[in-house]
Amino acid sequence: MKVDVLLGLQWGDEGKGKIVDVLTPSYDIIARFQGGPNAGHTLEFEGIKHVLHTIPSGIFHSEVINLVGNGVVIDPVVFKAELDKLQPFGINFQERLLLSKKAHLILPTHKLLDAASEIAKGKNKIGSTLKGIGPTYMDKTGRNGLRVGDIFSPHFKEKYNALVEKHVGILEHHEDFTYDLSALEQPWFEAIEVLKSLQAVDSEHYLNNALLAGKKVLAEGAQGTMLDIDFGTYPFVTSSNTVTAGTCTGLGIAPTKIGSVIGIFKAYCTRVGSGPFPTELLDSTGELMRKEGNEFGATTGRPRRCGWLDLVQLRYAIMINGVTELAMMKSDVLGIFEHIQVCTHYIIDGQKVDEFPYDVTDISIEPVYEKLEGWHCDLTELEDFQSAPAALKAYVSYLEAQLNIPIRVISVGPDRKQTLQN
Ligand code: GDP
Ligand code: IMO
Ligand code: MG
Repeated sequence: MKVDVLLGLQWGDEGKGKIVDVLTPSYDIIARFQGGPNAGHTLEFEGIKHVLHTIPSGIFHSEVINLVGNGVVIDPVVFKAELDKLQPFGINFQERLLLSKKAHLILPTHKLLDAASEIAKGKNKIGSTLKGIGPTYMDKTGRNGLRVGDIFSPHFKEKYNALVEKHVGILEHHEDFTYDLSALEQPWFEAIEVLKSLQAVDSEHYLNNALLAGKKVLAEGAQGTMLDIDFGTYPFVTSSNTVTAGTCTGLGIAPTKIGSVIGIFKAYCTRVGSGPFPTELLDSTGELMRKEGNEFGATTGRPRRCGWLDLVQLRYAIMINGVTELAMMKSDVLGIFEHIQVCTHYIIDGQKVDEFPYDVTDISIEPVYEKLEGWHCDLTELEDFQSAPAALKAYVSYLEAQLNIPIRVISVGPDRKQTLQN
């Protein structure tokens, strides 16, 4: 068997949580491959809305194993809070939630370093979620990090202290930055005990053995392609590989074992935090999108910046990820507009540009739009795509032709049921 991948093609918050939940009944294992509590994946069904940060989005299906891969960074405190929140739902975490021994731990001092670094950057700040993501991945690549496997070592506390000592040394350079570490440490060590109660596995062996045994695996991405550390709008990115290649390194899956790559995008575009966004609308249209789409971050509550769909950006994401099929989200939100615009190319220095350029931060980009008919109606009650308004069908066909990839899923609302197959 091969591993299918679902990941975001824009700047995150495309609706990954919803679609992983919808697809989970077709899989045996759902595996998160990167990111950490910076992610906020929303699922809605039976009138309840759930937001998951580290736990994979297949957790509500009782037959399915959910695995947190080696590429993920785990904040034990956030993780424990997620488990506590799910307590009323009677999920057997001991059996159904596995942690990779190689996943790195976010220490309280990683969060402090994240905050101090953002303050030091001033107006150039990344707009980080301040969950300690960057400093934790820095310690991973700097070969200093602590991993889930370490929590079972009799020397865990010594390793912890040695790393914290390094961090405190760095924090001393941030003169005005004050903190109370001991207040953060107690809940952290309590949460470590909770992590110990779960199964820590050699996840690369676990997954490859599962594939040999014919199990179906779906890899769940976090963030989006334009936040990828290599291919995103650097430096305004996160610190992991959010693209398909991240599945290989974040789970121990060989490239030859990747099956379908499901790329997910909103029918328009959003971004939260700082950084370039060529099609951003700073006018009343953007404001309307934010209001209608309820575009406020699932992790931080920050308003998301909104704009029209950007085909230059989307083609780039499709290329990097080797996308084989698409899911288009939040089509209902565009129902408020009589006309919809789609950016087909950019003009930079008077030249037509079709390829997403190296520098999008310090140059002036003029997005060129094609104006399409809107469907201008409520889609949220729509039960099948055949009955969709002609303008929506035309929008889907237009995008399929432009992107050369089939759009298999069209989402018309936040609920599990508001999902149409094409
Ligand atoms: P993720 O990080 O990719 O899982 O996405 P988020 O959960 O951060 O953000 C997506 C938001 O859009 C959530 O509030 C979802 O409930 C909501 N959502 C998902 N699909 C749809 C849709 O088709 N229509 C509408 N109106 N909301 C949606
Ligand atoms: P999901 O999985 C949207 C953004 C932050 C910031 C930048 C770096 O829900 O799609 P970090 O905390 O990683 O140092 O922040 O990346 N960001 C996200 N934006 N969705 C996310 O995750 C994000 N995770 C990080 O806003 O601009
Ligand atoms: Mg999100």
